[in-house]
Amino acid sequence: MKLNCTHFLGAFVHIATRTGIETTQDELRRAYALVEDEAPADTLIGMARELGIELRPMQIEWRAITQLQGAFPAMLMLRDGSFLIAEGMVADTPQGPVILARDAGAGADEVDIALDQQRFERLCTGDVILAKRRYRLNESAQPFSMRWIVSQLLLEKTVLRDIGLASIITTIFSLFPPVLSMIVLDRVMVNHSYSTLAVMCGAVVLLIVFEMIAGYSRRLYMEVMATRIDGRLSLYLLDRMLSLPLDFFERNPTGLIQSKLSKIYQIRSFLTGKLLQTGLDLVVVAIVVPILFYLNWVLTLTVLGLACMLALIVYYYAEVVGKRFKAVVAAEQRKNTHLVESIYGIKTIKSLALEGRRRGEWDARVAQSVEARFALGRTANIPQTISVPFERLIFSGTFLLGAYLTLVDPSAFQAGSLMAFIMLGNRATQPIIQLAQLMQDYGEIKEAIEEVGSVVNAQPEQTRIGTGLRQPISGQLTFSDVSFRYAPGAPLALDDVSFEVPTGTFLGVMGRSGSGKTTITRLLQGLNPQYEGIIKVDGMDLREIDLQHLRTCIGVVGQENFLFSGTIRENIGIAKPHASFSEIVRVAQLAGAEEFIERLPQGYDTMLSEGAANLSGGQRQRLAIARALILDPPILILDEATSALDAESEAIINANLMRIAQGRTIICVSHRLAMLVAADNILVLEKGRLDDIGSHQELLRRNEIYQHMWHTQNRSTEVMNFDRIAIPHHQ
Ligand SMILES: Nc1ncnc2c1ncn2[C@@H]1O[C@H](COP(=O)(O)OP(=O)(O)O)[C@@H](O)[C@H]1O
Ligand SMILES: [Mg+2]
Repeated sequence: MKLNCTHFLGAFVHIATRTGIETTQDELRRAYALVEDEAPADTLIGMARELGIELRPMQIEWRAITQLQGAFPAMLMLRDGSFLIAEGMVADTPQGPVILARDAGAGADEVDIALDQQRFERLCTGDVILAKRRYRLNESAQPFSMRWIVSQLLLEKTVLRDIGLASIITTIFSLFPPVLSMIVLDRVMVNHSYSTLAVMCGAVVLLIVFEMIAGYSRRLYMEVMATRIDGRLSLYLLDRMLSLPLDFFERNPTGLIQSKLSKIYQIRSFLTGKLLQTGLDLVVVAIVVPILFYLNWVLTLTVLGLACMLALIVYYYAEVVGKRFKAVVAAEQRKNTHLVESIYGIKTIKSLALEGRRRGEWDARVAQSVEARFALGRTANIPQTISVPFERLIFSGTFLLGAYLTLVDPSAFQAGSLMAFIMLGNRATQPIIQLAQLMQDYGEIKEAIEEVGSVVNAQPEQTRIGTGLRQPISGQLTFSDVSFRYAPGAPLALDDVSFEVPTGTFLGVMGRSGSGKTTITRLLQGLNPQYEGIIKVDGMDLREIDLQHLRTCIGVVGQENFLFSGTIRENIGIAKPHASFSEIVRVAQLAGAEEFIERLPQGYDTMLSEGAANLSGGQRQRLAIARALILDPPILILDEATSALDAESEAIINANLMRIAQGRTIICVSHRLAMLVAADNILVLEKGRLDDIGSHQELLRRNEIYQHMWHTQNRSTEVMNFDRIAIPHHQ
């Protein structure tokens, strides 16, 4: 088959970029000499493989396509030879399943296309190319998956080897008691052989000592491996979590993230516990089964047959039980989310007297969880009951059958051998049943891996570490035609906004609630990179600047600022660990915080509890300002920093504002216009659009929104206020 190069590469580059492989059409054409219009599919598949993407072309009908589920992204060939990229599927819409696709050729204005059966059949040829990123086992960038975990386990190769060795030794020792009883019953008792008994005694003592040593080492190695892997997983988790963009946390409830992440330990204990154990036990089976056959093949077949029946029962019910188990997990997660939310929102719950309501919701969730658990227990009870006869038969049945065989032909099968058989038989049947159980657990674990993966595999923030610009920033800002929405389909939060802020000036931002004020500050910090248009800092495109560098150059004080538990001094200096005490005091003075800090009995060494509940709102805010100033940032953002404060605290901060503003660019968002009067320029935002920009005097003269708000805020004290604060900048 031949494919059109332009169409194919367009779609392929899109998929490659999404999986973290940076490339362009031109680059690929050059590297793989794709000069013709068309290229054989095999060549293109080979190219993709070299880049780490496995492509699998197939011909598919609509009915089958809905079963692709995990296989996205995939390329769908259209009748004109171009491709759509299928990104996912919604299974239950009124029109039946719908594929979500996008048009790779459409460039930056990619549109989401929903394909139902009719459209699919009309537009697509049915040729589909599945794409899957392949990682080498040692690749650090590979996403969280079973493969990743196995690669982590393999890092402990030597420990694993030692565990295996110790396990095999203990296993061999555990074979001894059956052999012992066989020898004692068949030889010692029958022949009255005291010398054999004495040898046996010596052997027992020796074996006990060896078994202790081997058992000790095995448990020790297991512990070593478990703790090492735990350590590595913990580091990995926090690392990945911190690298996620802010909006990931805004979209997902904290409790859910937490409970998903905690699954990683379940996975670890499965791998180093049950899986390893069953693996080792299967080695035992391989050793024991031949011995069993040697002892008596009729009994061996009987026992193995029964064990397989048991395994089948366990396996058959595994799926049903698994489904119930999923329901339990989901119910537990809802419970957990509710609990975490109640803790975070406790202030609001108390002040709105919502305790009763929260408790009611909690009751409902607990009931759901209890119900799910009960359903699980009830379902799990069935296989447990059905398996009883088989379990009993394995022991008693074999015993009776063996006794019969001994009676029939005492020379072929003796009492001692029967004893040994019963004891060994157990060692062989248990692992077989465990294996079936393991398959069920594996399903759960796969689920757990997906849940952990849904957090840690989320697209991390583009930090541009190593490639981003780290030039010193002086604080000149330009927005050109910036538009932004928080989610596809959401209304524009910013709509074609352009303005400029010269270095070292004071920009006020006003507008109604929801008009996009905070959004401007968020874009500036690189928190939401998917905006259109260009934002420049000192003439550099914001997207080119190293994110860490950018953020250290921007101080931010919001309405609510999180203070960590620790002393006041630690909190102010948190972004600059080696800050001298005089630096701390300087910024505290600048922020107007020194005055109250010095009145505290322990001054700068006063401990703050988490969230600084032992300070007033105004005090917290002043600490937050001091903290933002410690790195002496060329740009400072105050987003409604004083809006929640009492008049006195606000006045204190306002009084310091001009001093704080010295030598830096300030963006001050406030709906209290008194704070913005001194600004060089004031942005007036309305529903995401820039309504006007100008000084206080200009806006007062010409802008309706501004006039309206100014008059509302100053109706009673208009004259007075004017006297006090209007020290116009531009006159
Ligand atoms: N994190 C977010 N996720 C989704 N939508 C948001 C988010 N933050 C703000 N918005 C929406 O964007 C618009 C502008 O919000 P924002 O910039 O916070 O307004 P302002 O700060 O002026 O009150 C609002 O309509 C709001 O609903
Ligand atoms: Mg806001």
